Amino acid sequence: MANNRDEHQSEDYLFKIVMIGDSAVGKSNLLARFARNEFYSNSKSTIGVEFQTQKMLIDEKEIKAQIWDTAGQERFKAVTSAYYRGAVGALLVYDISRRRTFENIGRWLNELHTHSDMNVVVILVGNKTDLKDAREVDTAEGKAIAEAEGLFFIETSALDSSNVTAAFETVVKEIY
Ligand code: GTP
Ligand code: MG
Repeated sequence: MANNRDEHQSEDYLFKIVMIGDSAVGKSNLLARFARNEFYSNSKSTIGVEFQTQKMLIDEKEIKAQIWDTAGQERFKAVTSAYYRGAVGALLVYDISRRRTFENIGRWLNELHTHSDMNVVVILVGNKTDLKDAREVDTAEGKAIAEAEGLFFIETSALDSSNVTAAFETVVKEIY
């Protein structure tokens, strides 16, 4: 029955997805752009843990993505194991205009795999593509490390919106 199906549909899938990566790479702004189409040019470092639940339609099924966001900086970080617990997807974000944030990818992967299931779906996200003149990491380098580590890869800009929805959808589709 149609009604019955609708009721079930809304509860069918709830996926926990975590945002990880160095401080100021744009994790919170990617989430703000995706969930509310907002951008903050002067956003402060995230304190504690925040999350947004976003409904998505994948193959005509309603999926709820519960996306968790915390600070990249150690001293602001909330309890690590609770943050990762139950996560089925992750966006590992670096800033294409700050090479240091790219060099820390391995560290983040270690932390992720220490605290979560090995099957967690990860997409490597090179954010801030709008900063063309300041680019320090080539697209090809991002692609190469993603391939070597078995991650999906995308470049985004939370500022101009490019590829933001695609980044989240890629993860959710793959989990689903
Ligand atoms: P923490 O919470 O400290 O871990 O940082 P974060 O990764 O959440 O970074 P946040 O989203 O707060 O963004 C940091 C800074 O980068 C802010 O000043 C944003 O406005 C800026 N920013 C984020 N995304 C982009 C982008 O795509 N392009 C540009 N030019 N700036 C961005
Ligand atoms: Mg943040």
